Amino acid sequence: MGSQYRIAPSILSANFAKLGEEITNVIASGADVIHFDVMDNHYVPNLTIGPLVCEAIRPLTDAIIDVHLMVKPVDRIIPDFAKAGANIITFHPEASEHIDRTLALIKENGCKAGLVFNPATPLDLMDHVMDKIDMILLMSVNPGFGGQSFIPEALVKLRLARQKIDAYTAKTGKQIWLEIDGGVKTNNIAEIAKAGADTFVAGSAVFGAAKDSDPHRYDTIIGALRAELAKV
Ligand code: DX5
Ligand code: ZN
Repeated sequence: MGSQYRIAPSILSANFAKLGEEITNVIASGADVIHFDVMDNHYVPNLTIGPLVCEAIRPLTDAIIDVHLMVKPVDRIIPDFAKAGANIITFHPEASEHIDRTLALIKENGCKAGLVFNPATPLDLMDHVMDKIDMILLMSVNPGFGGQSFIPEALVKLRLARQKIDAYTAKTGKQIWLEIDGGVKTNNIAEIAKAGADTFVAGSAVFGAAKDSDPHRYDTIIGALRAELAKV
């Protein structure tokens, strides 16, 4: 876990009828991480994919699969995702009765663990569990759907999260990724990076860009996102 920037396309906006191809193409086009959005129509008002789909795509790539759980309760499903090949599992603290226990469960199952903060959720929930956290994910939209607009207050929160992480890293040497999710585009990714993010989820920006190209390739959009990051 170094200091370079990572681009994490969210497959929520991929063509699900061709999901395997989409994943192969997006990785071949330079993506670093596959962001895997799990929604349960209970914690969030939408329903997506589970461990069976994670298991099915696992053989297609060596890239990190970053499972973003938008489900409640969370604990029951964690071992299933670990067995399905997830590398990172994150969850929303509101969805767990025992945040420290859920983080420990993810680690016991051999995955990296992280907390996800909704736009209004205060960051102090991370303060006493930093030793169990490998990634902090800040939502810059309310979870549930792709294609929403970036909430500008997330930049303020990113700066605060960056301070907390840097202070912890200075004290312990432990690296923690800071990921942003929602409304990331070429016109705001540089500003988001300046505010402290190092890992960028992009769903509609990436998969919306090649809808009409055949074969579907994502080099242009991923290159454009990286060109913006190079300016930071
Ligand atoms: C929203 C999901 C996001 C979503 C982002 O609940 O967590 O990962 O796919 O989509 P865009 O990049 O289109 O905002
Ligand atoms: Zn997500």
